[in-house]
Amino acid sequence: MFKRWLEYRHNKQVSLNTAGNGHYSNGNGQYSIGNGQYSIGNGQHSNDNGSLIEVSQVVKTFENEAGTFVALNKVDLQVEPGEFVAVIGKSGSGKSTLINMIAGIDRPTAGEVMIKQTPIHTFGEGQMARWRGQYIGVIFQFFQLLPTLTVAENVMLPMDFCRMFTPREREDRAMHLLEQVDMADQAHKLPSQMSGGQQQRVAIARALANDPPLLLADEPTGNLDSATAGSVFELFERLVNNGKTILMVTHDNDLARRASRIITIADGEIVREVKNGKNQPQPTLATQGVTNVQAALA
Ligand SMILES: Nc1ncnc2c1ncn2[C@@H]1O[C@H](COP(=O)(O)OP(=O)(O)OP(=O)(O)O)[C@@H](O)[C@H]1O
Ligand SMILES: [Mg+2]
Repeated sequence: MFKRWLEYRHNKQVSLNTAGNGHYSNGNGQYSIGNGQYSIGNGQHSNDNGSLIEVSQVVKTFENEAGTFVALNKVDLQVEPGEFVAVIGKSGSGKSTLINMIAGIDRPTAGEVMIKQTPIHTFGEGQMARWRGQYIGVIFQFFQLLPTLTVAENVMLPMDFCRMFTPREREDRAMHLLEQVDMADQAHKLPSQMSGGQQQRVAIARALANDPPLLLADEPTGNLDSATAGSVFELFERLVNNGKTILMVTHDNDLARRASRIITIADGEIVREVKNGKNQPQPTLATQGVTNVQAALA
């Protein structure tokens, strides 16, 4: 596979059309973003000026021995395309529960979760998994790479699962994504042979596999030393600058301050929201719906 990737790099014949239609477009050596706009209007990656995330009156309760525990209490949250939102709060405040609602990993007890105007809280498990595979990239604290698959195979997995691209294209695309996170030379290795920072870079490449507009990250730097955390965070900043929308849980207030908005959760409620003026989403790629991985990682 690596040899083929080198040939691919040499020829630069293929450009990735990241419009999510499962096809490459022949390029002129540049990675194209289709017709100059992230394409849209196919009812999938739609550019419809609505909020990307709309959480309305979401309640999540868990039953335990002591009775019913309210982990989220009538949470409302809207996130616009191109925002970089940091979610902070004490341990047990409900941050992961909220991310899991938005990722469709868990379902609300009451309320609605709309992603791109799609009511994902109504989806069954299988439907949700397929939908998530295309529209949401999820990044976890402990990477959750599959240990028996190589790095490249891990990145191809979401493409295989959603049947995006042809098998040959999946390999090429995985290698390209790995190159963008400086991991192409490790493509044939197993996750256990890599450092935490390297594994997280692979997990980010995997999250980008199907070019989803939204990335959700639950303490993605929580298991990394501060220098590695900083470089992973810079990768997120580049992605946002080029069109991705990111919602990231973090315990690191210094990193949170670099996001465009900070949300504080306490006892299952959003108790504070601060917008960071100098880092607001630019009315450029993101607001045009452009979520091109190549541009994002260039
Ligand atoms: N599956 C579950 N069953 C029972 N209680 C749960 C479950 N998941 C979460 N909780 C409870 O809900 C509350 C919120 O949990 P959550 O994992 O969202 O917190 P958090 O803010 O992410 O904390 P941390 O910073 O430690 O990751 C906690 O009190 C937790 O014990
Ligand atoms: Mg958590």
